[in-house]
Amino acid sequence: MSEHLQYLGLSEENLPQASKLAERVFSYLLPSAVRPDACFRASLDPTKLDELNRKIDGESEAEKRLAPQLQYWIATLRGRIVGVTGLYRTVDDNPDVRWLGWFCLDDSPEVRGQGFGDELIQFTIDQARREGTKILRIETSDVPEEQIAQKVYEKAGFRIASTEPHPSHGHNWIIRERNLEE
Ligand SMILES: CC(C)(COP(=O)(O)OP(=O)(O)OC[C@H]1O[C@@H](n2cnc3c(N)ncnc32)[C@H](O)[C@@H]1OP(=O)(O)O)[C@@H](O)C(=O)NCCC(=O)NCCS
Repeated sequence: MSEHLQYLGLSEENLPQASKLAERVFSYLLPSAVRPDACFRASLDPTKLDELNRKIDGESEAEKRLAPQLQYWIATLRGRIVGVTGLYRTVDDNPDVRWLGWFCLDDSPEVRGQGFGDELIQFTIDQARREGTKILRIETSDVPEEQIAQKVYEKAGFRIASTEPHPSHGHNWIIRERNLEE
């Protein structure tokens, strides 16, 4: 692979395109308050984070409120936004824990299948380390849409910590984690 992704922090300017991309890639997810667009807006505006947490409270006891340390980045290729990645904590997590958020690449053939998934996860791991993260976790699942992601995660050292049947989905939740101190 000769080309590499470039990265920028999520901003008011690139948010609309980042949301469009992530909402399209994650359109298979069930309706929920925790959508890419809502998370991206909450990362830039504390009042939007409060709004999102109120919706999370009203939605289900299983969903945890998000802590203010919400960060997202966009990945570009030849100036085009082609990917998104992020880090978040819930209010119940220890300060040295982060979760991977809305990790995805545009589903076009010139972007997917080029090894950029590995680059994007390595960038996110580096960012997590810079934030002092010791344990990086991923909430993923065995739905067909997330099969390739499992390869990327496994190769990047994220081991399965637990699996749990999804009550309404017919698939299993998978929690993966990697100790970034090892
Ligand atoms: C996860 C994602 C970012 C990976 O990027 P990608 O461009 O598809 O994958 P890569 O080119 O980096 O390849 C990763 C691995 O998958 C393999 N792979 C890629 N496309 C494949 C395909 N269509 N069929 C089978 N294997 C494939 C690659 O060969 C590589 O494995 P290897 O290193 O053993 O050779 C991307 O697939 C995506 O956005 N998926 C949807 C969103 C998602 O699942 N996010 C995570 C939610 S938890």
